[in-house]
Amino acid sequence: MAVPLFDTDTPTRFLKAEIRAKVDEVLESAAFILGPEVAAFEADFAAYLGAGHAIGVGNGTDALTIALRAMGVGPGDDVVVPSFTFYATPEAIPPTGARPVFCDVDPETFCVTPETVRAALTPRTKAVVAVHLFGNVAPIAEIEALGVPVLEDAAQAAGSRAADGRRPGALGTAATFSFYPSKNLGAFGDGGAVTTNDAGIADRVRTLRFHGSRDKVTFEEVGYNSRLDELQAAILRVQLPHLDRWAEGRRDAGDHYAAAGLGELVTLPTVTPGASAAWHLYVVRHAQADALASVLRGAGIGQKAYYRLPSHRQPAMRPYADGLDLPGTDEAAATHLAIPMSPVLGRRDVDEVVVAVRDARLG
Ligand SMILES: Cc1ncc(COP(=O)(O)O)c(C=O)c1O
Repeated sequence: MAVPLFDTDTPTRFLKAEIRAKVDEVLESAAFILGPEVAAFEADFAAYLGAGHAIGVGNGTDALTIALRAMGVGPGDDVVVPSFTFYATPEAIPPTGARPVFCDVDPETFCVTPETVRAALTPRTKAVVAVHLFGNVAPIAEIEALGVPVLEDAAQAAGSRAADGRRPGALGTAATFSFYPSKNLGAFGDGGAVTTNDAGIADRVRTLRFHGSRDKVTFEEVGYNSRLDELQAAILRVQLPHLDRWAEGRRDAGDHYAAAGLGELVTLPTVTPGASAAWHLYVVRHAQADALASVLRGAGIGQKAYYRLPSHRQPAMRPYADGLDLPGTDEAAATHLAIPMSPVLGRRDVDEVVVAVRDARLG
């Protein structure tokens, strides 16, 4: 039996009729940009997160650039960022005029730690981008205790919770989300959001997403054309009430992997202390990860090494990576492998994956 790497269709299938009706409503309204659906989604999403403000933008990459600028990041500044993340995280920094300064991750959690961030601080550090990678929760309060504002990249962590019960998106100075279709909360196209408790940052994000203008007449600064559109907002509003149940399904699937003995065969991801991870991707580690991938492929099991070449080794990041030594990143990059994960990944699927890993006999 084949087990896909992820399944975005089954969890949303029962919502398709409601989504179609909502799409029809938007078509009839003929309001497509910055209308009532975006405003309502922004209110719903802020309330869900426990954040003061949510502002819809075009995608998760723009969200990062816009949020950093709204936090005051600009030319001459340094921004600390992990290398072991999707490339968009560091890519979003140079457009602000600032320089990405790469830091290491703990390969057990795949997240930055106060120690890895401290090692990368410079006199010019204006902000840290902490990524809640794979749905795990980075230690935001401990990093802000270093005295530097944190932007959470929560693109992969919708539905997760920190040890104190608060949600990624409401832990740092500001946070960003991607609603790319395969995300825990996915649109049917591109979409993103910035969230914050700071009214000043929220106000600047609203201005920056619309060409640096408040009134469409006066343009105060050079901004962006980056809006969440009405259709995507309407689709996200239908899905948001189901996010926690889907997150529970992801957590259960992770627990099934552990209960089925997968941890005896490969290294399982370590949840940060007390956190509750809505696994966006379930990523294990093994010294022979590529050999494992090829056995799983042969058995019809979805798998992918997402970041085999970490960001600081990508050609475009060469100017920012001179002489860097990030051992935790190199370890995670060389050994990680995502295996099937979704809100509807059942015990039989999990058992099938574990049997295939066992049969690989990689030692
Ligand atoms: C950690 C992380 N940051 C940023 C992004 C960028 O989001 P988008 O694709 O919506 O631009 C993604 C996902 O694509 C991501 O996984």
